[in-house]
Amino acid sequence: MELIQEVMIMYCTRNVTEDLVWVGGNDRRLSLFEGVYKVPYGVSYNSYLLLDEKTVLLDTVDKAVGGIFFENIEHTLNGRPLDYLIVNHMEPDHCAMIEDLTRRHPETVIVTNAKVAGMIKQFFNFDIDSKLKLVSEGDELSTGKHNLTFIMAPMVHWPEVMVTYDKTDRIPFSADAFGCFGAINGALFADEVDFYRDYFDEARRYYTNIVGKYGAQVQALLKKASAVEISMICPLHGFVWRRDFADYIAAYDKWSRYEPEKQGVVIAYGSIYGNTENAAEILACRLNELGIRTKMFDVSVVPASEIVAATFEYSHVVFASATYNGGIFVKMEDLLHDLAAHNFQNRTVALIENGTWAAMTAKQTAELLGKCKNLNILEQKVTIKSSVKQAQNEDIDALAKTIAGTF
Ligand code: FEO
Repeated sequence: MELIQEVMIMYCTRNVTEDLVWVGGNDRRLSLFEGVYKVPYGVSYNSYLLLDEKTVLLDTVDKAVGGIFFENIEHTLNGRPLDYLIVNHMEPDHCAMIEDLTRRHPETVIVTNAKVAGMIKQFFNFDIDSKLKLVSEGDELSTGKHNLTFIMAPMVHWPEVMVTYDKTDRIPFSADAFGCFGAINGALFADEVDFYRDYFDEARRYYTNIVGKYGAQVQALLKKASAVEISMICPLHGFVWRRDFADYIAAYDKWSRYEPEKQGVVIAYGSIYGNTENAAEILACRLNELGIRTKMFDVSVVPASEIVAATFEYSHVVFASATYNGGIFVKMEDLLHDLAAHNFQNRTVALIENGTWAAMTAKQTAELLGKCKNLNILEQKVTIKSSVKQAQNEDIDALAKTIAGTF
């Protein structure tokens, strides 16, 4: 009797359409995405495998989920060769498995643009030239039933990024655009979860911190996207959108125009012994009494990424900072640099400064934000010497009224 040894290939895939399969993975142990951003709910690395007359893999994944990724691919291919790998984005959370893939599938042709090809050579050592099919804006690739075309999307969020658009099923594979922090937990589609309740804040934090600097480039991509029909959106992180994505696109449009979603005041304070915090608390009380919504952050304990996201959400920002070694309190200074690096703009700003030797931070903060576009930095400020006294109470009350007058 012949013994047949079966190799069980584990998999956790989801069908996006009849012939398009999600073959990515989730990482819930990553402490810092890009070495910077906390991802308490994890992150997904999406990769998609199209099973047409030709088989086509769209991007790979981070090395952290490489094992499950290859199990997913081999299960889905079910013995078929992998004809094409399309590389839309060369950041290592999506490209890490390219060299391993070419070893497992030497038959695979890599379809991508010239900038990506250059980066593949920078990251890896294999002979890419013999495997390469270069494409440019508007080129087409027929895989049988499907016709794919390529839309360049530089700086969304690296210079080489492109979007592959499946003209047959009207699906853009949108790279980082429309992505989201958070593992997807078996629910591939955004309509399988309560996205706006459970994920939208993380989507905003993802957008603002990862792509937020590149509003003009996102606007350019949205303009190109508006010229094609879209039935689904397949990003590299987070959920696939198959319905009701107009509001999500509208959020991207607003964020990339640097327009606030809501009227309200973010109060970010840097306080050493609690006196600056006290001033911030008093201001928050006065603003709420005037009917103005506030969101408060202690910069010493809240990661900058959350505060950056809040400044994209709200129309006004108050920075209240203790003076530290003659300068801006160190955690506040970090935040201000981070905001400037993310193109913080188009907001009304008010300043509170505190200092026992000398209060210096209002002028220094205004100077640091001087390179940011279209900020309305109120001349009226509050200066505290060590702690809030009656005179500062009155100043805070007056500042609240001035802020209210700008709504
Ligand atoms: Fe998810 Fe720009 O990489």
